[in-house]
Amino acid sequence: MPRAHIELDTHAVIAPVNRRTFGSFVEHLGRCVYDGIYEPGHPTANADGFRLDVVELVKELGSTTVRYPGGNFVSGFRWEDSVGPRATRPVRRDLAWRSIETNEVGLDEFARWLKLTDSELMLAVNLGTRGILEALDLLEYANHPSGTALSDLRIANGTPEPHNVRMWCLGNEMDGHWQTGFMSADDYGKLAARTAQAMKTAQPDLELVVCGSSGSGMPHFGDWERTVLEHSYDFVDYVSCHAYYQEYDGDLGSFLASALDMDYFIDTVVATADHVGYKKRSSKKINLSFDEWNVWYLHKSDADGDNPDPAAAASSEWRRAPRLLEDVYTVADAVVVGNLLMTLLKHSDRVTSASLAQLVNVIAPIMTEPGGPAWRQTTFYPFSITSRLASGEVIRPVIDAPTYDTARHGRASVIDAVATVDEGRAAVFLVNRDQSEPAQITIDVRALGATRVAEATTLADADVYAQNTLSDQNRVVPRANTTATLADGVLTIELPPVSWTAIGLE
Ligand code: AHR
Repeated sequence: MPRAHIELDTHAVIAPVNRRTFGSFVEHLGRCVYDGIYEPGHPTANADGFRLDVVELVKELGSTTVRYPGGNFVSGFRWEDSVGPRATRPVRRDLAWRSIETNEVGLDEFARWLKLTDSELMLAVNLGTRGILEALDLLEYANHPSGTALSDLRIANGTPEPHNVRMWCLGNEMDGHWQTGFMSADDYGKLAARTAQAMKTAQPDLELVVCGSSGSGMPHFGDWERTVLEHSYDFVDYVSCHAYYQEYDGDLGSFLASALDMDYFIDTVVATADHVGYKKRSSKKINLSFDEWNVWYLHKSDADGDNPDPAAAASSEWRRAPRLLEDVYTVADAVVVGNLLMTLLKHSDRVTSASLAQLVNVIAPIMTEPGGPAWRQTTFYPFSITSRLASGEVIRPVIDAPTYDTARHGRASVIDAVATVDEGRAAVFLVNRDQSEPAQITIDVRALGATRVAEATTLADADVYAQNTLSDQNRVVPRANTTATLADGVLTIELPPVSWTAIGLE
């Protein structure tokens, strides 16, 4: 049985836990909005048509900031179409997903939905097919209190209070050839800088996210970030990162080590952003908004996975709310999602905002059936438990564990871990990447002053490909790990093969 020892030292503080690390993403894509969060005929729907069973699951998930309305969708979106009387809103073609957009749900309705889920709105502007003026108009509609044409229009549309949106994305994946209006780094960097300058002139306290590369596999990764930031550094606050992972050709060992790639990705973008900052002699630091991350079986036909083309997943016919990107997640997927979230926490000093992509039906932790139930995918659990338990400050653990070779990510530790410590409580998150053996773990928690295990929960299954489905919604659930004991400041726990575990300490 592999054995590992973990030391926790409260002096090894990385940064405070950012609540925005637990953000998610709602795009007008497939059945995320329509037949997902919104289904007027559903028995649980409220007066706005929002499903309250979904609202309850979103609250349980513990998602904080929600990025909206895209994604690739935003690059063809006219925000004006989605406000005002529903009966007069135009029906349009969405080129990104080859779908019909009815505009039944727009900014004002979505902001009301966010209030139900107690979440913060992170809004994207269209820089693919629109520009500075439209971004300023949307900002005026959303945030200006009253007394101007667009703020008064919002009030006339039934929303007297401004939405007060702080975080704004300056377009989406503007480097991707699938993006409507995609650009060179030079063109985008200039447009982003000008748009950001104008938006901050209107409202200086905005937090603006400039687009990084759409993935670390893009040939221009690194160069894109450098060029874009050389133009926009002084006007923006974040650079975005997007990463999706999947198992290739039965190589579970590499897949389980996906967090190493995310780690490398983050370090590279931080180094690039800081390089530009040093060159500019700027005292300002650009943080990372990891605003799309998840497991996504996007590259089913792409052998090396380095050339993503999300548009290939688009609908073949023009339909409203087609079933797109409805990945059904396994236990192994949930272990990887839990591990990716641990990596984001370990980078809390620079990754100060993140969004699990996406929230409902579309590569999502929550699934729904029209007129039917809503249920939790396997990936729901590591996210919701981490969001509930992680608080205070993130601690970098010292891990002494066996390692193994992976084809895609080099040598990986069999065990990964991160801890958080707060007043009166602490939490430790662990994964065991071993595919056949349980691991025996000892953790020195004396520095935390912990005396009691409040809870220990593990997600694992004899079948690592087990899933939750419409017909078997609770096939995979996290279970109490009864092997956890704490004596003389040493916590001992056994982790099943291919598992994710959370321990709450008092
Ligand atoms: O999350 C699905 C899609 O992936 C988003 O629309 C896009 O930004 C990315 O390519």
